[in-house]
Amino acid sequence: MAEELIVTSNLTKEERYKELYPQIFALNQGEDDLIASLSNMMSALKYGFGWLWVGVYFVKNSELVLGPFQGPIACTRIQLGRGVSGTAWYKKEAIIVEDVDQFPDHIICNAASKSEIVIPVFNKNGEVAMILDVDSDKLNSFNEIDQKYLTQIIQLIVPLL
Ligand code: SME
Repeated sequence: MAEELIVTSNLTKEERYKELYPQIFALNQGEDDLIASLSNMMSALKYGFGWLWVGVYFVKNSELVLGPFQGPIACTRIQLGRGVSGTAWYKKEAIIVEDVDQFPDHIICNAASKSEIVIPVFNKNGEVAMILDVDSDKLNSFNEIDQKYLTQIIQLIVPLL
């Protein structure tokens, strides 16, 4: 296993994902524990991009429950349809929020959060099993490039669900 994440400076967003993806892939090779794999993945994303918060919530009964994350402390439970995460779960689709103040019902876990992307993760039965949530302290940090690569990265976890 690699001991240090390689993060080259002055890369474009896409170049950074291309640098990180094989490292995250390698980190998860041979590890079949969901929490262990997710924990390193969240760290690699947090320190690869310098975002405010990167983490997952698991679908448990009728709520989202906080899972492995990197960043400030966060809300532990979110109801179906509530906030950006609960809405992505309910709609079963990714949501990009350029300015969280403009998103109706955004849940403020940390006042420094300005923009956000949430990606639902489906189990083998096509049900949402968890969501990936990334927060930035800058407005308009996420676009379709993030959606594409974050979806690919979190997909590495699906066999462990
Ligand atoms: N802002 C999110 C809540 C989760 S945190 O940002 C970690 C939301 O509205 O769902």
